[in-house]
Amino acid sequence: MCGIVGILGREPVAGQLVDALKRLEYRGYDSAGIATVENGHLERRRAEGKLKNLQERLNREPLSGLAGIGHTRWATHGKPTENNAHPHATERLAVVHNGIIENFRELREELEKEGATFGTETDTEVVAHLVTEEMKKGRSPVDAVRAALPRLRGAFALAFIFAGEDDMMIGARKGSPLAIGHGSGEMYLGSDAIALAPFTDAISYLDEGDWAVMSRDGVQIFDVAGNAVKRPVIKTSSSAFLLDKGNHRHFMAKEIHEQPEVVAHTLSHYIDMAKESVVLPGELPFEWNKIERVSISACGTAYYAGLVAKYWFERYARLPVEIDVASEFRYREAPLRKGDLALFVSQSGETADTLASLRYAKEQGLHVLSVVNVQTSTIARESDVIMPTLAGPEIGVASTKAFTCQLSVLACLAIAAGRARGAISDAEERKLVRALIEVPRHMNETLTLEGDIEALARDLGKSSDVLYLGRGTSYPLALEGALKLKEISYIHAEGYAAGELKHGPIALIDETMPVIVTAPYDSVFEKTVSNMQEVAARGGRIILLTDSKGAAEATMPGVTIITLPDMPSSVTPLVYALPVQLLAYYTAVALGTDIDQPRNLAKSVTVE
Ligand code: F6R
Repeated sequence: MCGIVGILGREPVAGQLVDALKRLEYRGYDSAGIATVENGHLERRRAEGKLKNLQERLNREPLSGLAGIGHTRWATHGKPTENNAHPHATERLAVVHNGIIENFRELREELEKEGATFGTETDTEVVAHLVTEEMKKGRSPVDAVRAALPRLRGAFALAFIFAGEDDMMIGARKGSPLAIGHGSGEMYLGSDAIALAPFTDAISYLDEGDWAVMSRDGVQIFDVAGNAVKRPVIKTSSSAFLLDKGNHRHFMAKEIHEQPEVVAHTLSHYIDMAKESVVLPGELPFEWNKIERVSISACGTAYYAGLVAKYWFERYARLPVEIDVASEFRYREAPLRKGDLALFVSQSGETADTLASLRYAKEQGLHVLSVVNVQTSTIARESDVIMPTLAGPEIGVASTKAFTCQLSVLACLAIAAGRARGAISDAEERKLVRALIEVPRHMNETLTLEGDIEALARDLGKSSDVLYLGRGTSYPLALEGALKLKEISYIHAEGYAAGELKHGPIALIDETMPVIVTAPYDSVFEKTVSNMQEVAARGGRIILLTDSKGAAEATMPGVTIITLPDMPSSVTPLVYALPVQLLAYYTAVALGTDIDQPRNLAKSVTVE
C-alpha cells in the first residue's frame, strides 16, 4: 500500500508534496514524511499519524528545497512510528517506497556485515543502504540504483533523491504502480495520476520493471533489462475538482449520493438506449458460445459484486460460474479449462491478490476480462479486455459507488452473454435493459429515505453485534451490508444466506440482536419471510428493507420496515445497496468514527 510522490520544481516543493500526499492518503495514513534537497543538502521531516501532524511539523520546521519526495504510510514492516516513517535516508540519499521487499532480512544481514547501521524496523531501509553501499564503491547515483534494483525481491515503487544532486530524482517500479508527470521545467512522480492532478495532466506510466532517471528537463526511462525505452505521454482526465467533498461531510456520503449519476454514466456506455439492448464498448477476444465456465475472482466488496454476477450469468446466460475470493483462487490449484473465461473485478485495479489471480489464470490459458474503475491500473493493463466502470475516483475507503457501477457492468455482461448464447430472447433482453435504465431513478427515490435510515442507524450504533440476512441476489448484499458496517463503525456484523439461519446463527438471536433483512418482493420473498418469523419468535429486532408488496406481507411483530420503490427483481441488488450503505454510514456518524479513513484499512490493497 502506501502513497509516494516526488517533485523536481522551480519553487520550494514542500507544500506541493503535502498537497499530493493528501490525495494519496487513501493508500494509507499511519505516518507521513517528506525529504528535500537544497543546495546539495538532504533534509527530512516525518510525523506519526495523519498528514496534518506532518503539516504542523513543517509549519514549525519548514523545508525550502526545490526537489523532494514524500510518503504516506500503511505499515507492513515495523510499527507506525515516526522513526519507521519514510523517507528513509543515509548521508547519500533519501528514498520512499510502496510495497514489500521480501528478501530484506538477508539483505540487511549482508549490509550489516559490510558495516551499515540500521535505525528502523522497516524493509525499506535496506534499499537506502543497498544503494548507498553501491555509491560508496564509487558508482554514480544512476549506476548505484541500476546495480541495486535487481537485488530486490518483492513488490515496489521507489523514489530517490540524492545529496549533491539538486536536479535528479530516480523512480523505479516492480509490482506497484508509478506514474511520471511532465510539467514545463518541472517533473513529478507519484503512485497515481490523481496525486499529480493539480500539477499536470501529462502522464507516463512506468511498465513492470521500468526505472526512470528524471531531471527538470525530462525523463529517461529504462526497462528491466536496462534498455532505454519510451513510454507514451497520456492526457489524464482526473480533474482536481472531483476530489472535493462538495457539501458532504465525508467522501463516503458524497460517493453514495453520486450513484444515480455515475451508474447512469456507466450504463450509457453499455446500453443502446434507443434499441434497449446491450452494446459492449470493446471487442471480446472470445465467443460466448465457446465458454463452458466463467471463473470470477475478486476481493471484499468487489467479490460481492462478483457473487451477484454469478446469479445473473447462471440465470440469463445459463453459464456455470465459479467464484472465489482472489486470495484463495490463486493458491487452490483449481482445474481450469484453456479458452474459458476468467473475470476479475476491482475498483483500484491494483489489489495484489486479484492481480496474482489474473496472472495465474492467464498462465493457464484463460481469456482474462476485468471490470475495473482505474483504467490505467495494472489489472487493466494486464487484462485481455477491460470493461470499465465509470464511477470516477472513489476516495472513501469503504467502496460504494464502485460497487454499484461494477454491478451495472456485470449485469450488461451477463445480458450480452445470454443473448449470444441464445439463452434469452430479444424481448427478454429489452425487458432486462429497460429495468437497468430505470435504476438511476429508483436510486434517487431511495435516497429520499435517508432521514428514516439515519434515525434507525442511531439505534443500531448501540448494538455490539448485527446480523444481515438475504436470499438469492440479496444474499451478497447481506454480506456487503455486514462488511460496510464492520469496516466503518467497528461493530461486529455477519452476513448470512437467510436459509442458513437455522443451521447455527439462530442461536445468537435475542432481544438485543438487530437483524437486517434485505428482501424485495421476489420469487424467494416467501421463504425469507419464514426466516423472519423465526427471528421474531425469538424476540429479535428486524429491520426489513423491502418494497410496497413486501411491506404489506411482512406483518410479524418487532419489524421496522424501510419501503423502497417497486422495481423488477433483476435490478434490486443495485438499488438496495444504497440503504445498506446509508445504514452503515449513519451508524458510523452516530459513533463518531473516522469514516473516510477507518482504522487499519487502506483504499488500495497492494500487499498479499
Ligand atoms: C470494502 C472495500 C474493500 C475492497 C477490496 C477490493 O468497502 O472497499 O473490501 O472492495 O479491498 O478492492 P479493489 O476493488 O480495489 O480490488
